[in-house]
Amino acid sequence: MPRAIVIVSGKGGTGKTSLAAGLGCALSAMGKRCVCIDGDIGLPSLDMALGLGEFVAFDFADVAADVLGLQEALLQPEAWPGLQLLSAPPRIAPEERNLLRGVVRRIKREIPCDYILIDAGAGLGLSFDVAVRAADSAIVVATADPVSLRGANTTAQRLYDMGVEDAYLVVNRVRRNLTGRYDLPNIDDAIDLTELPLLGCVPEDRQVLLAQAAGESVLERRKSTAARAYRSIAKRITGEYVPLGI
Ligand SMILES: Nc1ncnc2c1ncn2[C@@H]1O[C@H](COP(=O)(O)OP(=O)(O)OP(=O)(O)O)[C@@H](O)[C@H]1O
Ligand SMILES: [Mg+2]
Repeated sequence: MPRAIVIVSGKGGTGKTSLAAGLGCALSAMGKRCVCIDGDIGLPSLDMALGLGEFVAFDFADVAADVLGLQEALLQPEAWPGLQLLSAPPRIAPEERNLLRGVVRRIKREIPCDYILIDAGAGLGLSFDVAVRAADSAIVVATADPVSLRGANTTAQRLYDMGVEDAYLVVNRVRRNLTGRYDLPNIDDAIDLTELPLLGCVPEDRQVLLAQAAGESVLERRKSTAARAYRSIAKRITGEYVPLGI
């Protein structure tokens, strides 16, 4: 049974979509089959992060409504065999909260895959609810600043209330020369403040933005320190031991 992992944050812009795309590509490079679902209803961007922006025509609401078959709705980036994308609809109604949950159940039954990654939207509203209801476990992405970490703590509590107890922390955009200085939280503070086990740290790396602007995966950039961190986190997801640290 593939694991469905939702990537959430509470606060926006912490790096959820970048992490989802990076992990999807890293898992694919490891020979794992992975379905990436954009759970950001109304504001999808995972297609762009995977270089598929021009190819999206259907989304998970179309699949739920049987407008087309599941296999037909899944897009595959040429460079990443085993990786498939299902995009997010422009809107759904509040009474359709279990829509994605049903689609994820179908993916588990019908599509041979090892992991399902769901990129949630910002905030704790309907998008969050829809994405979390479809997941077995969660990754909370925060940056190492007090506001983001408080948002991550609130998000972790909400996950727990919704029955997702298997939740982990990724600290993104870590700047070694800043973290823990000038009253900024360090990684230990981040773990204490969120009360979540640390799955990994991703360094600040302008290659993330540059790769996205070029419509390619940062994993293709040899010198990218973020890509290295995404690979380490992907390995930890598969159960491999990789020492923490950046
Ligand atoms: N490790 C990193 N180093 C440098 N820039 C990064 C890093 N991670 C993400 N970014 C940049 O931060 C911005 C926001 O990233 P991203 O879109 O992944 O966040 P998000 O949490 O998905 O946002 P939203 O809440 O709006 O969905 C992007 O411009 C991205 O290039
Ligand atoms: Mg996003």
